[in-house]
Amino acid sequence: MDGTVPTMVFLMFIYLSSLSIKADIPLGSSFSPNGGTHSSLWVSPSGVFSFGFYKQGDGFGVGIWLDGVKNVIVVWSANRDDPPVTSNATLQLTAEGINLVDQGQGKLIANANATTFYASMHDSGNFVLYNKESNITWQSFDYPTDTILGDQTLPSGGQLVSSYSNTNHSTGRFHLKMQDDGNLVLYPLNTDDEPVDAYWSSGNSGFNGFRFHLYLNKTGILVIRNGSDLNLNAINCLHGDSFSNNNNNGNQTIYRATLDYDGFFRLYVHVNNGDGSKIENWPKGNACAVRAFCGFNSYCTFSDDQPYCQCLQGFDYIDPNERTLGCKRNFSEGECRGEKDNAASYNMVSMENINWGDRAYSKAIMSQEEECSSSCLADCNCWAALYDGGVCKKQEPPLRYVKRTIVANSATTTTAFLKVGNISIGHRKVNDKPVPDQPLPIIKTTSSKATNWDLGLNEEVALRRFSYSELKQATKGFREELGKGSFGAVYKGSLYKGKRLIAVKRLEKLVEDGEREFQAEMRAIGKTHHRNLVRLFGYCAEGSKRLLVYEYMSNSSLGKLLFGDGRLPEWNERVRIALNIARGILYLHEECEAPIIHCDIKPQNILMDEFWTAKISDFGLAKLLMPDQTRTFTGVRGTRGYVAPEWHKNIPISVKADVYSYGIVLLEIICCRRNLEVNVSKPEEILLSNWVYKCFIAGELNKLVLWEDVDINIIETMVKVALWCIQDDPVIRPTMKSVVLMLEGVTNIAIPPPPTSS
Ligand SMILES: *[C@@H]1O[C@H](CO)[C@@H](O)[C@H](O)[C@H]1NC(C)=O
Ligand SMILES: *[C@@H]1O[C@H](CO)[C@@H](O)[C@H](O)[C@H]1NC(C)=O
Ligand SMILES: *[C@@H]1O[C@H](CO)[C@@H](O)[C@H](O)[C@H]1NC(C)=O
Ligand SMILES: *[C@@H]1O[C@H](CO)[C@@H](O)[C@H](O)[C@H]1NC(C)=O
Ligand SMILES: *[C@@H]1O[C@H](CO)[C@@H](O)[C@H](O)[C@H]1NC(C)=O
Ligand SMILES: *[C@@H]1O[C@H](CO)[C@@H](O)[C@H](O)[C@H]1NC(C)=O
Ligand SMILES: *[C@@H]1O[C@H](CO)[C@@H](O)[C@H](O)[C@H]1NC(C)=O
Ligand SMILES: *[C@@H]1O[C@H](CO)[C@@H](O)[C@H](O)[C@H]1NC(C)=O
Ligand SMILES: *[C@@H]1O[C@H](CO)[C@@H](O)[C@H](O)[C@H]1NC(C)=O
Ligand SMILES: *[C@@H]1O[C@H](CO)[C@@H](O)[C@H](O)[C@H]1NC(C)=O
Ligand SMILES: *[C@@H]1O[C@H](CO)[C@@H](O)[C@H](O)[C@H]1NC(C)=O
Repeated sequence: MDGTVPTMVFLMFIYLSSLSIKADIPLGSSFSPNGGTHSSLWVSPSGVFSFGFYKQGDGFGVGIWLDGVKNVIVVWSANRDDPPVTSNATLQLTAEGINLVDQGQGKLIANANATTFYASMHDSGNFVLYNKESNITWQSFDYPTDTILGDQTLPSGGQLVSSYSNTNHSTGRFHLKMQDDGNLVLYPLNTDDEPVDAYWSSGNSGFNGFRFHLYLNKTGILVIRNGSDLNLNAINCLHGDSFSNNNNNGNQTIYRATLDYDGFFRLYVHVNNGDGSKIENWPKGNACAVRAFCGFNSYCTFSDDQPYCQCLQGFDYIDPNERTLGCKRNFSEGECRGEKDNAASYNMVSMENINWGDRAYSKAIMSQEEECSSSCLADCNCWAALYDGGVCKKQEPPLRYVKRTIVANSATTTTAFLKVGNISIGHRKVNDKPVPDQPLPIIKTTSSKATNWDLGLNEEVALRRFSYSELKQATKGFREELGKGSFGAVYKGSLYKGKRLIAVKRLEKLVEDGEREFQAEMRAIGKTHHRNLVRLFGYCAEGSKRLLVYEYMSNSSLGKLLFGDGRLPEWNERVRIALNIARGILYLHEECEAPIIHCDIKPQNILMDEFWTAKISDFGLAKLLMPDQTRTFTGVRGTRGYVAPEWHKNIPISVKADVYSYGIVLLEIICCRRNLEVNVSKPEEILLSNWVYKCFIAGELNKLVLWEDVDINIIETMVKVALWCIQDDPVIRPTMKSVVLMLEGVTNIAIPPPPTSS
C-alpha cells in the first residue's frame, strides 16, 4: 500500500515530461507542403527548428531549418541532390523511418536501424527517431550535410559538403574533411584531396587512431577532440574564449558551424531566433584564398571587397552568368608537332602577377624568361609556364587555383606565360554579354615570392597512413631497389597515377617496439619541415610491417657525388651544400618541436634533389633502434669513420655526436675524398682529418684542393670549422648554431687545437 501511489506518480511524471520535452511525433503522422513557402507540422518545442518542406527552385526540398527573421536557414537536407518535390508530396513517419511520397513514388529519406515508434524534433536541431524503449533508431545529427550545430560531432572520417548556393542546397563545390590523422582540412570537391588542393587546415597532422573529431558545444566552443571524453579533451580549439563566458541571461543562443557555398567554414551565433551573425571564418583572408573559388582557366582577383573571376587570355567564360564556373579555350587545339609548327599556330602571351598553386609537371632552372616561354611553346604538354625566381615551372591544362597577386616593394617578379592558339573556335555569339571592365588592369608591378599564396599550406598538411597493399602497388611489388640503408632497403614508387615519385623504405632491424612508439616517432618526424630535410609523406604500420614513404630524390646522394665517377661538384656548389647540411642539422637539434639527434650523419644519408639542394635523410629513426637517446649505449650506432669518439667511451651521447660527424663530412666535401683513403701518394694523407690539420698548421691549405682555384680565405674558414667540430671532447665542439654562423661568416673563428688530445 505504501509503495504503489508514489510509483504511479513517478511513472506519470516521466510520461508527461517526456511528452512535453521531446514533442513526440507519433507513428503515422504525415503532412504536405500545401503550397506555402515552407511548411511543417514537426516543430521543436521552442519553435526554433522545424523538420519539413522548404522552398527549393520551383518545388520543395526536405530538411531541417532554423527560422530566422528574414530567412529560413537550412541546417540539414535529405537527399540534397534529388530534384525538388511537388506541393503534393507527403512526409510520413513509418516504422521504417521517414517516407517521402511524391507523384506516386515513395522513398525512405531516414532509414531507421530498428522499428521506429515515435520521433522528436529537438530544440538542439536534432531530429530523432525512437523505438518503443525510447532508444534512438535514427538521428539527423549522424548525417550532417553542410552544418553542425551545438552538441553535434563531425566524426573521424566525416565531412561537411557545401551547398551550391545560399538558396540551392544541392551539393556545391567544397568540402571540409575531418581526417583520420587529426587534421581538419578544406578542399575543393572533385580533386584528389592532395595537400596541393587544400586551402586551409587546422594543422593537426600526423596523429593517428581514428579518434579525432570536430565538436561544437552548446556554448559555441569549436574544438577538435581526441576521443569521446566529456571533458573536452581538445587537441585544437578553433574557437573558444570570448563567447564561451557570455551569459545570455535567458536569451536563447544557438551556435552553428557551416561550410558555406563560397568555401568558407564559418561559425555563427543566433540569439533569439535572429538571422545570426558571423563569429569567425576559416580560412582567414578574402575569397581568393579559397582554392578553386574561380573555376578552371580563370583567375581570382579581389577588389572593392568583392572577388572576381576572370578568364585567362585565350579563354572565354563557360557561362558568362556564372563566372565561378571557369573558362574554356576560344581557340582550337591544333595537332602538336613540336617547335616549328607550334610557333606557327600558337603565341605565348605573358601576364604579370599571375600565379597558381598547382603542381608543375616540370621545373627547371633557367636564366631568362624568354627561355622559359619558348621552352613551353615547343613542348606539346605545356599550356602555361610560370617563371618564378629563376625557375621555369610548366603546367598542363586545365589551369587551376590561379590568382593575381600584387605585392609592392619587392625585387623579384613572377611572369606567367600562356600558350594561345590563333585559330578561333567558331565565332563569339553576338548576344554574349560583353565582359565588363576588369576591376583592375593587369599592371606590371613587382611581386614577391613570399606572397601568402600558399597560406602556409603546402605538402606539409598531412602525414598519410598507407596500407601495405597500397605501397606494394605503388612500388610495383618492390621491384626497383634504390639502395640499402642502415634500416633496410629503399624502393622507388609512384603515387597518384604516376604523378608523384616516392621512395619507400622498408624498416627491418627495429627493436620490438609496439605500434604506439612507432606512431609517436612518425608524429615527431611528421612535424619536421625544413628544406634541407627529406620530407616524409607517410608511413605504413601493419602487423609487423613498418614502411616509410619519402619524397623521391632524383639526384642520388652526396656520397655518390663526392666519391663517384661523375663530375665533381664545383667549389661554390660544395660550399652551398655544406651550408645546406649544417642548416638541416641545426633544425633537427634546435628548431623542431622535439630535438632529434641524427646519430648517422654521413654523405650516403645526404640526398640531392633535382635542384641540387642537399637534404638529410634517415633522421628521427635512431630512436626506433634505441629506446632513450640520452643514456649510454652499449651498441655503437652510426657508421665507422663518422662516429664520435664518445660512442666508444661509455659517456652519454648528445647532439655533439652529430657535430663530430658533420665535421668529418665537411672535410670530405672540401677535399672530395673519403676520410679514410688508402690509395694516396703519401702515408700521411691516409687519414684526412690528420692530414688537413697538418696542412692547416703548415699554412698549406691549397694542397687540399690542388685541382681547382679556390679562395683561400673561404677554405680556411671551412677547415677551421671542421677542425672544431671533430674535437675529441664533445664539450669543446661548437653547437650547430655556431657552425652555421661561422660558415656564414657572421662570427669569427678561433684557431682550433689539434682534434685529438692524445
Ligand atoms: C541546384 O544546383 C544544381 C547544380 O547546379 C542544379 O543541378 C539544380 O538544378 C539546382 N536546383 C535548383 C532548384 O535550382
Ligand atoms: C497535385 O495533385 C492534384 C490532384 O491530383 C493535381 O491536379 C495537381 O496537378 C498536382 N500538382 C502537382 C504540382 O503535381
Ligand atoms: C535500449 O537501451 C537500453 C539501455 O539504454 C538497453 O539496455 C536496451 O537493450 C536497448 N534496447 C534496444 C532494443 O536496443
Ligand atoms: C541505431 O542508430 C543509432 C544512432 O543513430 C545508434 O545510437 C544505435 O546504437 C543504433 N542501433 C542499432 C541497433 O544499431
Ligand atoms: C562548452 O565548453 C566550455 C569549455 O569547456 C564549458 O565551460 C561549457 O560548460 C560547455 N558548454 C556546454 C553547454 O557543454
Ligand atoms: C589521444 O588520446 C589517447 C588516449 O587517451 C592518447 O593516448 C593519445 O596520446 C592522444 N593523442 C593526442 C594527440 O593527444
Ligand atoms: C537578450 O537579447 C536582447 C536582444 O538581442 C539584448 O538586447 C539583450 O541585451 C540580451 N540580454 C542579455 C542578457 O544578453
Ligand atoms: C596563325 O597560324 C597559322 C598556322 O596555323 C600561321 O600561318 C599564321 O601565321 C598565324 N597567324 C598569326 C597572326 O600568328
Ligand atoms: C580569344 O579571346 C581573347 C580575349 O580573351 C581574344 O583577344 C582573342 O582574339 C580570342 N582568340 C580567338 C582565336 O578567338
Ligand atoms: C641531376 O639532375 C639533373 C637536372 O634535373 C639531371 O639532368 C641529371 O641527370 C641528374 N643526375 C642524376 C645523377 O640523376
Ligand atoms: C689509385 O689512384 C690513382 C690516381 O689517383 C688511380 O689511377 C688508381 O686507379 C687508383 N688505384 C685504385 C686501386 O683505386
